[in-house]
Amino acid sequence: MKSKASQTISTDLRGFLRLLEKHKRLRVVQRPVDIRNIPYEVLRSERKGKAILFKGIKGYQGALVSNLLGGREFVALALGCSPEETLREYVRRMNHPVKPVILSRGPSQEVIRTKNKMDARLLPALTHCEKDAGPYITAGIAIARDPETQIRNVSINRIQITGPQELLINIPQHLGHIQAKAEAMGKPLEVAVAIGNHPVELITACSKAPFGSDEFELSGGLRESPLELVSCKSISLQVPARAEIILEGEIPPHTKKEEGPFGDFMGYYVPATKSHVFQLKTITHRRGFIFQAIRAGSVEDGHLLSLSREAVIYSALIEKEIQVESVSLHTMLFNCFVSIRKKHEDEPGAVISTAFDAYPWLKYCVVVDHDVDIFDARDVWWAVGTRSCPERGTVLIEDSPGFYRDPYRLHQSKLGIDATAPLGQWNEFERTRIPEPSRKK
Ligand SMILES: Cc1cc2nc3c(=O)[nH]c(=O)nc-3n(C[C@H](O)[C@H](O)[C@H](O)COP(=O)(O)O)c2cc1C
Repeated sequence: MKSKASQTISTDLRGFLRLLEKHKRLRVVQRPVDIRNIPYEVLRSERKGKAILFKGIKGYQGALVSNLLGGREFVALALGCSPEETLREYVRRMNHPVKPVILSRGPSQEVIRTKNKMDARLLPALTHCEKDAGPYITAGIAIARDPETQIRNVSINRIQITGPQELLINIPQHLGHIQAKAEAMGKPLEVAVAIGNHPVELITACSKAPFGSDEFELSGGLRESPLELVSCKSISLQVPARAEIILEGEIPPHTKKEEGPFGDFMGYYVPATKSHVFQLKTITHRRGFIFQAIRAGSVEDGHLLSLSREAVIYSALIEKEIQVESVSLHTMLFNCFVSIRKKHEDEPGAVISTAFDAYPWLKYCVVVDHDVDIFDARDVWWAVGTRSCPERGTVLIEDSPGFYRDPYRLHQSKLGIDATAPLGQWNEFERTRIPEPSRKK
C-alpha cells in the first residue's frame, strides 16, 4: 500500500521530464548543438539548478538529457515526497521490495537494430572531461544474473565506446564478482545496459544493497508498485520496458583492453586501466530516444552515490535510538553532516563512532543540532565556529581504513566534530531571527 508521504511516481524518464517542466526545473534546447559543447552547457545548467534536454545533436541520433537529479528537491520529486521526508521514505521503502512484472512488449523495443544497423558510436555519448579517453556511457544501468544463483544485479558502470559493437566496461564491484564466476565456468556473461531511465532505477542501481539483492525489486519497493520489464531480443535477461535505449550483449571471459583515463567522482582523472570488453549483440530503442548522460563528480552523481550511504548511517543511528533529524553527504562522499535532537552530552560522540563504523569511507563527521541546515555547508561551518570546542569536542581516530584507492594514505584516519550547543542552554544558543514583515498596509 502506498504511504501517505508518497505520491504516484511517473513510470519513465519522459514522465519525470514532464514533472520537472511543471516545476520549472527543465531547460529545453531546441536547436541542434555541437556535442563538444554539451558538457559546458550541462555545467551551466547544474549551476542554475536545472535539468537540461538537448532536442538535437549534430551528427547523432536522438536527444540528450543531463542533470536529472541536480538538487535535493529533484530527488524528492523522483520519489514523490518532500525533501525533508526523502531519507526516511527511502529507508522505509527499501525495506519493502516489490517483485517486477514481465510484459510481452514495451516501448524500449520499438526499434530493433542488429548487425550492420547497430553502431554504438551513433549514440550521443559525451567526452565529459578534457582528458577522458573518449565518449563514455555513464547513466546506463548494467543488468546481469549471477550464473550460480540466477539472482539479478543492477549497477551503474562507466562504459567507454571504442567501436561500433565494442565497448569497455569497468566492473570492480558486484558485477565484477558475477563476471568472475561466469569466467571460472568458462562462460561469457550476458549483460544488458538500459539507458534513459526514471531516476528511481538509477537510485536503486547505486544502492548499497548487499550482494545477492535484486535491485529491480528495490525499484519496486521505492515505487511502491512493480517495475515493468520486457525480455531481451538476443539474450536471456529482462530489462525496463520503458527505458529509452537497451544495449544487449555479453562480456566474454578473459578479454580485457585498455580503458580510460576518465574523470571520476572525486574530480580527478583515474588513469588508464584494463577493463572488460562488452560485446554488443543488439540495440533496441524507443522512437525518438532520449540518451542520458551523467558527469562523474557532478551534483547529480553526488546525489546518486550519497543517498544510499546516508541511509546506512541514518539507519545505524536510529537503531541506537538517537533522534536523528537528517544525514548529509552532499559536499563530498567522504564528509558527513548529521543533525540531531541531543538528549545527553555523550550523544554526539556516539553519533560520530556509529557513523564511522556504519560507513568506512567516511573521513569527517560533524554533528550539529536540529536547527542547523546540514544541506548548507555555510550553516554547518557557522555551527562549528560558534558551538564547537576543538579541545573537548573533537574525536581523532588514527589508522582507520577509509577509501581504498589511496596511494598517499590520505584516507586512513578520521575526525569527528561535536558542534552541538551545551545541553540545557538553549536560551543562550537560540538563533537570532529577522522579524516577519508586517502584512498590514
Ligand atoms: C555516473 C556513475 C558512474 C559510476 N561508475 C562506476 C564504475 O565505473 N564502476 C563502479 O564500480 N561503480 C561505478 N559507479 C557506482 C556504482 O554504480 C555503485 O557503487 C553501485 O552501488 C554498484 O553496484 P553493486 O553494488 O551492485 O556493485 C558509478 C555511479 C555513477 C552514478
